[in-house]
Amino acid sequence: MSNARSVPAHLASLADSLRNSTLRGLFASDVQRAAALSRTVRLGDAELLADFSKQHITAEVVEALVAQARAVGVESLRDDMVAGRPVNFTEGRAVTHMAMRAVGNVTAPDFLRAEAKQHDDLLRSAVESIPSGITHVVNIGIGGSDLGPALVCDALASMRIRVRDVRFVSNIDPVDLDRALEGLHPAHTVFVVCSKSFGTSETLANARRAIAWLAAGKIARPQDHVVAVTAQPERVVTSGIPARHVLTMSESVGGRYSVSSSVSVVVALAFGYDALGDVRDGMRLMDEHFVQAPANENIAMLLGLVWWWNCSAMGYPSVAVVPYSRVLALLPSYLQQLIMESNGKSVGRDGSPVPVSSPIVWGGLGTNAQHAFFQLLHQGTHVVPCDFVGHSTPLGSSSEDHDTLVANMFAQAEALAVGVSIDEVEGDVALRAHRATPGNRPSTTLLFSALTPRALGALIALYEHATFVQGAMWNVNSFDQWGVELGKKLANQVSAEMGRATMDMKGTLPTEHDSSTAQLMRQHRAWRSGR
Ligand code: F6P
Repeated sequence: MSNARSVPAHLASLADSLRNSTLRGLFASDVQRAAALSRTVRLGDAELLADFSKQHITAEVVEALVAQARAVGVESLRDDMVAGRPVNFTEGRAVTHMAMRAVGNVTAPDFLRAEAKQHDDLLRSAVESIPSGITHVVNIGIGGSDLGPALVCDALASMRIRVRDVRFVSNIDPVDLDRALEGLHPAHTVFVVCSKSFGTSETLANARRAIAWLAAGKIARPQDHVVAVTAQPERVVTSGIPARHVLTMSESVGGRYSVSSSVSVVVALAFGYDALGDVRDGMRLMDEHFVQAPANENIAMLLGLVWWWNCSAMGYPSVAVVPYSRVLALLPSYLQQLIMESNGKSVGRDGSPVPVSSPIVWGGLGTNAQHAFFQLLHQGTHVVPCDFVGHSTPLGSSSEDHDTLVANMFAQAEALAVGVSIDEVEGDVALRAHRATPGNRPSTTLLFSALTPRALGALIALYEHATFVQGAMWNVNSFDQWGVELGKKLANQVSAEMGRATMDMKGTLPTEHDSSTAQLMRQHRAWRSGR
């Protein structure tokens, strides 16, 4: 990998030329544009059409991006990851999430697949050991121990028969667990305490309250109603959770890349082990595409390169992810962690400053987003590339309404691309400037033939690999997250100080904080004590 770098001159020059063109003009000058800048791939029981043609790119740009990726070593870094070499160099770890769904050794070597199978065997036996009377499962976890499983469960709810009701608790805010417990009975409830580190304060606090709730519900051995998932099983021993309920995962599976690991035991508890298996199988199919497809045909490679191009070359600082499918409502939140925790870095692999890295990832559910932030997308001063995600086969009970949903997705992408000029807009001449939209706003459309569990898995793996590609282009380590450590340390310190001060009401708050934090702590203490 070469050192951190700004945009090479030839790519910057191509970007300048694209800035001086319009999507309208690019489509008008090449009737084959859509076909030339779209790729398809079959993924088991579904197909994917990735349409990049509404992006500010041309075939020449794609060729240059692929060449740049090769030049900076994206493919060789990918091969290092697949082989199990320590690409997460700041933590001295391999990056092995693909091993959890590998069948052959195309995407993971035998020794990694063997370790993954050991973890999966524990998962299967834990699922089988849960008593039949358990009707509800509550997953307690945060970040990658919540977002991926929650996305998968929310999607599967419209694809598979639920075996148990499933709820998710992540926040330290007591309302989160309170609401999750509403209507539940301890005798019929099992908790999954999901924490790779088994050191996350929110999760441990919620776990303590959940076990207390079980005990208050006259459960003789509350820990028998708990399944733990962690890479640190030795930290669970003292908890009293039975060994057969302690599932493991590898330290080399990053939290935000862990949805195919034992972190998703909640998926198996809620929908059956086979449902998790189907999602993993879709992930494997996308893994094989990412590892085997030539770069110019590689949808994960191209998606990652387009994200890099928009952020670094075109200068667009954010991306909106807009799924037009209610079952994918959690996709933007999931991708926020996956992409921004992976690539929100400012130091390159060689230690030098990185000029530009991850875009700000945000978004919302279509068509709701059309009634929320699409005004800015169409007429705002910021150009925000969009990723639209949809599927042709309905999941709901009205095919007609599903077609309307998909039509809205197509229409919004077109409106963003073509706009309506002052000359074209109708009505009062004085108002035309207010009613025109500039268009020329880029988007990618990912259209699945059907959103099956495999397609869902493939979609998740697609973004895992696109995240890898953009991170490699920015030359950052996409697999550590040192940036969150200070906040965690200060939170524990402030919490402890406030706890002491609040409890004794007399303790003077420490003064080593900045005056704003000290002021906020004082005011909170006053209001908490009713003054
Ligand atoms: O946000 C920091 C982080 O470490 C994430 O990477 C991780 O997914 C989350 O916290 C939860 O960590 P754990 O699974 O160890 O509780």
